Amino acid sequence: MGTRIVSTGSYLPDRILTNRDLESIVDTSDEWIVQRTGIRTRHLLAEDEHPSHMGAEAAARALAKHGTSPADVDMLLVATTFPDMICPGSAPFIAAELGLSDVPFFDLKAGCTGFVYGLTVADSLVRTGTYNSVLLIGTEALSRVADWSDRRTCVLFGDGAGAALLQAGDEGQGVLGTATFGDADKSMLLHSLGGGTRFPLTAESIERRDDKLKMEGSGVFRSAVAMMEKATHAALEQAGLSLSDIDWVIPHQANARIIDLLVRRLEVPEDRVIVNLDRVANTSAASIPIALDEAMTAERIRPGDLVVMTAFGAGVTYGAVVLRV
Ligand code: ACO
Repeated sequence: MGTRIVSTGSYLPDRILTNRDLESIVDTSDEWIVQRTGIRTRHLLAEDEHPSHMGAEAAARALAKHGTSPADVDMLLVATTFPDMICPGSAPFIAAELGLSDVPFFDLKAGCTGFVYGLTVADSLVRTGTYNSVLLIGTEALSRVADWSDRRTCVLFGDGAGAALLQAGDEGQGVLGTATFGDADKSMLLHSLGGGTRFPLTAESIERRDDKLKMEGSGVFRSAVAMMEKATHAALEQAGLSLSDIDWVIPHQANARIIDLLVRRLEVPEDRVIVNLDRVANTSAASIPIALDEAMTAERIRPGDLVVMTAFGAGVTYGAVVLRV
């Protein structure tokens, strides 16, 4: 038995922040951001919106497209780095919003690799017959934890959510290979100190912006390419395929230069790579499912195509999944 993605959905908040808008927030320029990152715009959630709202909307769209009722979902998995609340996370709020009753749910925290890790977990659950219909969501509101006084980070991120409905299919369909890795020595490359048990929030720590996202940009850059390259080859090997078999690569949308370098190392034609970060920026765990949904909706990726998705993220986590859609 295999695990198929039978439907996808995505949601981007209405508000768009351009690079020009950012020029009035921090000392930056449209030219610097485009040259160094490839990003032009990003979506920001409204004040009364939260990761759960975006995730529920993306999931509702995936379910509606497939004509599946929430009552037929057996398990909900939510990949998110900064949930609605540290406890109980975002998954219960999404379950409530979708009207899922008596369905197991949990948050999966693997940074920007969350959706890839989630696919690996969901594949195991479906393949073993534990659950028949798993809803996997990546949702992220990084604008809420970005340090809007730090030009090195705040220009990089956007908000959004993507969802995939996974169900059992025949062997040779759906998920064909997975590879997941972690490197704990690099755990502080991307982190937020405040709010956990080690560094409880106090007036002083909030003043120091300990609750905001900190990143060692060049360290992330150096690791990211090698990690996604390694994960891609490992997932392909598990699938018994090579890059020449692959129709599409969907890399985590962090930075156009990282993607360019990865594509050169993999020796994949550029027109086989899905890129939307110019419009949506880095949406962390939501980046791959949003890109997948957009490409499928636009019929760039078509049923039967072979796709490899690869990501790296806080942790540091990294991984890849090979899929026949
Ligand atoms: N606008 C203008 N100048 C800036 C900005 C900005 N937004 N940000 C940094 N600079 C300045 C710096 O202050 C520095 O100036 P200085 O030399 O006077 O000190 C100069 O630009 C160069 O800074 P670098 O950090 O060396 O710039 P670099 O070319 O490395 O680009 C960047 C920085 C874009 C962050 C890059 O390192 C990068 O993309 N790293 C990967 C980050 C990433 O992908 N993060 C994703 C989050 S992790 C994840 O998704 C899992």
